[in-house]
Amino acid sequence: MNKKIIIAIDGYSSTGKSTVARQLAKKLGYIYVDTGAMYRAVTLYAMKQGYIGSDHFYKEALENSLPLIHIKFEVNPKTGLAEVVLNDKNVEKEIRTLGVSRLVSPVAAVSKVRKKLVEQQQLMGKDKGIVMDGRDIGTVVFPDAELKLFMTATAKDRAERRYKELVERGDKVTYEDVLKNVVNRDHIDSTRKDSPLRKAEGAIQIDNSNLTLDEQFQQILDLAQNTIG
Ligand code: DC
Repeated sequence: MNKKIIIAIDGYSSTGKSTVARQLAKKLGYIYVDTGAMYRAVTLYAMKQGYIGSDHFYKEALENSLPLIHIKFEVNPKTGLAEVVLNDKNVEKEIRTLGVSRLVSPVAAVSKVRKKLVEQQQLMGKDKGIVMDGRDIGTVVFPDAELKLFMTATAKDRAERRYKELVERGDKVTYEDVLKNVVNRDHIDSTRKDSPLRKAEGAIQIDNSNLTLDEQFQQILDLAQNTIG
């Protein structure tokens, strides 16, 4: 039997990490974990409690509430895709709005938030056979992952991709707002003190600006299959 490995996929926002990670997990029969969704769920909680808004962030209030935040994934039987459940409520749709995207980076910079989520992510991957995507998977969550990828693409390409996704879902956003958000999040995610976004040691960089989804998937599947052996 093939050995089970951990595949860590990190990279800038909207590089298509989750699409390829999900496809890869399906193909290999692995579990897929979208860690960005977990940071988004904590952000949604903080927004609903009034701890964070466009002009304030009561960081300590959020830190004190962390024991009350329970995040899990459940598979939607209609789509077969894992969706995020926050305190027993499915919030998959709510966490993907631009409103959450605007506030998630400051929340993700809080060390106590990271500690809680990283512990949960490490537990999810303890039996291997997992594809996990995020910003610190190869550097912090699983520094010994057998395969580490670092995805990049130009900000323009990424914003176009995210803009299309949001419009298709019926969100009223402008391309300029989405581009601003992508650039701003990258800046906060890469310059924060705790676990900044970095290419992990031993990670293979994939710039997908000029790759089709199929080409990118094939390239990554080959890497995974070679590593699994
Ligand atoms: O992948 P995403 O765009 O859904 O992630 C949302 C935010 O969460 C992102 O701007 C940074 C943060 N994040 C993080 O700090 N660490 C992770 N492992 C995943 C996401």
